[in-house]
Amino acid sequence: MAAFIVLGAQWGDEGKGKMTDYLAEKAEVVVRFQGGNNAGHTVIVGDKEYKLHLIPSGILYDDKLNVIGNGVVIDPKALFDEINYLEELGVKVTPNKLIISDRAQVIMPYHRILDGLKEKARGKDDIGTTGKGIGPCYTDKVERSGIRVCDLINKEVLERKLKQNIEDKNAIISLYGGETLDFAAVYNEYLAFAERIKPFVTDISVRIYEEIKDNKNVLFEGAQGSLLDIDYGTYPYVTSSNTIAGGVCTGAGIGPTVITGAVGIAKAYTTRVGKGPFPTELEDQMGEYLREKGHEYGVTTGRARRCGWLDLVILKSTARISGLTSFVVTKIDTLAGIEKIKVCTGYKFEGKIIDYFPASLEDLAKCEPIYEELDGWDDSIQNASSYDGLPENAKKYLKRIEEFTGTKVSIVSVGPKRNQTIEVCEL
Ligand code: GDP
Ligand code: IMO
Ligand code: MG
Repeated sequence: MAAFIVLGAQWGDEGKGKMTDYLAEKAEVVVRFQGGNNAGHTVIVGDKEYKLHLIPSGILYDDKLNVIGNGVVIDPKALFDEINYLEELGVKVTPNKLIISDRAQVIMPYHRILDGLKEKARGKDDIGTTGKGIGPCYTDKVERSGIRVCDLINKEVLERKLKQNIEDKNAIISLYGGETLDFAAVYNEYLAFAERIKPFVTDISVRIYEEIKDNKNVLFEGAQGSLLDIDYGTYPYVTSSNTIAGGVCTGAGIGPTVITGAVGIAKAYTTRVGKGPFPTELEDQMGEYLREKGHEYGVTTGRARRCGWLDLVILKSTARISGLTSFVVTKIDTLAGIEKIKVCTGYKFEGKIIDYFPASLEDLAKCEPIYEELDGWDDSIQNASSYDGLPENAKKYLKRIEEFTGTKVSIVSVGPKRNQTIEVCEL
């Protein structure tokens, strides 16, 4: 395994949390490298369900090191709420188990406020963000006015940077008609966060490098999914970070030559929360059926997820962009009981057939999905414990994914629990 990436192959919520937890059994370190508490990763251990947003899914083990990388944007309030939530459930979160990058950007109250105000100002063209301040925080990072964790824990630097930011941001907030912030109140609140975060803070790049040199297995846990990537997603209906494999190097401070593999977590159908194009969306009874059977409601915002058929064009693009070594196919049990299942194998675009995802949303809007129909299987699938035990038609479905994408399926998930996981071949 060595240095292995787990990332979302679609629009998020593919089951990354479950699979990271599953794969973490054989790893020593689990690293989040991008995103923030916009993520919602569900992990079920025994009869307990955990919902993680910012903390890596390896935290549920006692003996794994969890890392929040420099590419992550950290809302300290959300971080400590999550630590409190985990400790209440009996999960220890100590600096032995969790380390946080001194280079990570900090989400400030004005980021959350601006996220809301900008969405409101976009009106019907809103992105449908999670409202956690993610976009405005990454904006400040790139604009070079952000406050990093190393700034947060230095009283003088925090004071200086926060004063400047509050002045600038209050002007923008006023422009949008929002309520401005008081410097002293924010400063005092964040000084308290600084004290609490200090013991966790370190140079994570140095630590990850040491772990890899020491032959430890390191898992990089992606948040969101390929089509929410800031460069390769359905821009502007995306998140503000690089969710693809390339994001690991910049978000965790490691070189590409140490990465040994990348697995794309692909739901057996497609879902999306928030606005934006979705070629295979089902706005009919079948879409409703998938939503109810698959419990497709967001972990972070509770919003109903839009549902549609599996889009193989998306999976093929993801495999290319992230250099996937295999796919993990999740929630195949949700499709059980459907007589005929469709998969999209191309788009009709201006008289041609294409099998890649166009950049322009205007072009994408003209794309008409081309479907292939496959025979379904029954509910017994959720009790299958080996590849041979899977219904024949489910195997054919998996083979079609492999054939079309040129990428093997290494694991199949037939339910939300750890033991509802079937290993097909090497990752
Ligand atoms: P993530 O954001 O990629 O970690 O995914 P979420 O946790 O947001 O959403 C995935 C949901 O599907 C969670 O409720 C999981 O418990 C559940 N889940 C994961 N794998 C499977 C599976 O194979 N079958 C079923 N039925 N549920 C699954
Ligand atoms: P996980 O890790 C699904 C979506 C939002 C919105 C867009 C931008 O659980 O798969 P943001 O708040 O990031 O600026 O919102 O991205 N989005 C997600 N959709 N799963 C996620 O995370 C998401 N994180 C953000 O709904 O459309
Ligand atoms: Mg999720």
